[in-house]
Amino acid sequence: MKATVEEICRLFAFGAGCIEAEEMKGLVALRGWGMVEQALDYLKRIGFSFKAERGDLLLLATGPDITPEAIHARTHTREFGRGIHHFSEVDSTNSQAKALAEEACAEGTLVVSETQTRGRGRMDRKWFSPPGKGLWFSIILRPTIDPSEIASLTLLTAVSLAESVASTCGVTPLISWPNDLLLSGRKLAGILAEAAITDKVCKYVIMGVGVNVNIAEGGFPTELAQSSTALLIETGKTQDRALLLGAFLSIFEEHYLNYIASLTSLTELLADKETLRGLWVEVVLPPKEGETVVGKVLGYGEDGSLHLQDENGRVHHITVGSARLLPS
Ligand code: BTN
Repeated sequence: MKATVEEICRLFAFGAGCIEAEEMKGLVALRGWGMVEQALDYLKRIGFSFKAERGDLLLLATGPDITPEAIHARTHTREFGRGIHHFSEVDSTNSQAKALAEEACAEGTLVVSETQTRGRGRMDRKWFSPPGKGLWFSIILRPTIDPSEIASLTLLTAVSLAESVASTCGVTPLISWPNDLLLSGRKLAGILAEAAITDKVCKYVIMGVGVNVNIAEGGFPTELAQSSTALLIETGKTQDRALLLGAFLSIFEEHYLNYIASLTSLTELLADKETLRGLWVEVVLPPKEGETVVGKVLGYGEDGSLHLQDENGRVHHITVGSARLLPS
C-alpha cells in the first residue's frame, strides 16, 4: 500500500492539489482499485479530505503538508527519517520518542506531530505548539560518545537547523548557546535534548526540535509575543514544512556521522553562526550547583561547552546551563 500512497501523494503534489481522472485511471490500472481505495482510506485517517469535481473528472485533495510520504520525498539520508511516526496530536514528541527508544527502535527514527498538548522546553517551560504552524519533532539518536559530550549534539543540531533554514527559506538564523536559534534577535527555534544514561554509557538521546514556521505576527500568546518570531514573519512567505524538515534530516545526518567519526570540528561549524562570542553573559547553572557565573564569552569547546572568562580572569568551561546576555 505504501507505494500507492506515495504515488497518490505525488499526483496531487503533497498537499492541496488535484488529480485528473485520467491519472487516477492510470493508477487504478497499475495498482488495482482495492489498493487505491485502501491508500485513500489511509490518507483520510491522517487528515486528508477528497472532493470530486467536474462530474468526477477531477479529484481535489486537501490535507497536511507533512505526511511521511512528503518527508521521504524530500529527504536524502541513509537512516535519519527512514522510520517516521506522524501524529495529528500528541502530548510531547519527546515523550513518544522516549517510549519508542525504550522499545529498541532504530537510530534516526523520527516522531513528528501537527500539535502537542504538553510540549516542553528546557527548565520545565511549556513549548507553544499550535496545530500545523510549526515543526514539532524528535529524533532518536544512539551515539557512541561519552555522556559528557551530549551538549555537543545539541549544538550540532542547532548548526544543522540553521543551515537547513538558510538553504530552504533564504534567511540565516544565529545560534545562542546552548539551544536557541534567533532571527532578528528573537527566538525562532529551540532544542531539548533528553538522554538515558546507564553505567556512564549513553543508551540513547532524544533530540527534540521546535521551529516556529508559519505563525503570523500576532499569532503568539502575549507572554511570547516580544521574544519570539517565525519564518513566516521573517520572510513574509508561507514556508514548506516538509522541505525544511527533509533538508534538516539530510544535513543533520551528515554532520552527526562526521562528528561521531571525529571527522568534523564543532567549533569550526559554529564559528560564523553563533551570537555570543565577545559578549558578557550571566549563566545560571543547574539547581544542584545553584550558582551563576558572569563572564565574557571566549568561545566553545568541542564537547559543546561554553568558555567564559570572569572579571578575575578565571576561565570557566560550562557544559550545562542557561545563558542570559548582559546589557553592554
Ligand atoms: C527550548 O527552547 O526550551 C526547547 C524547546 C524544544 C521544543 C521541542 S518541540 C518538539 C519536542 N517535544 C517537546 O516536548 N519539546 C521539543
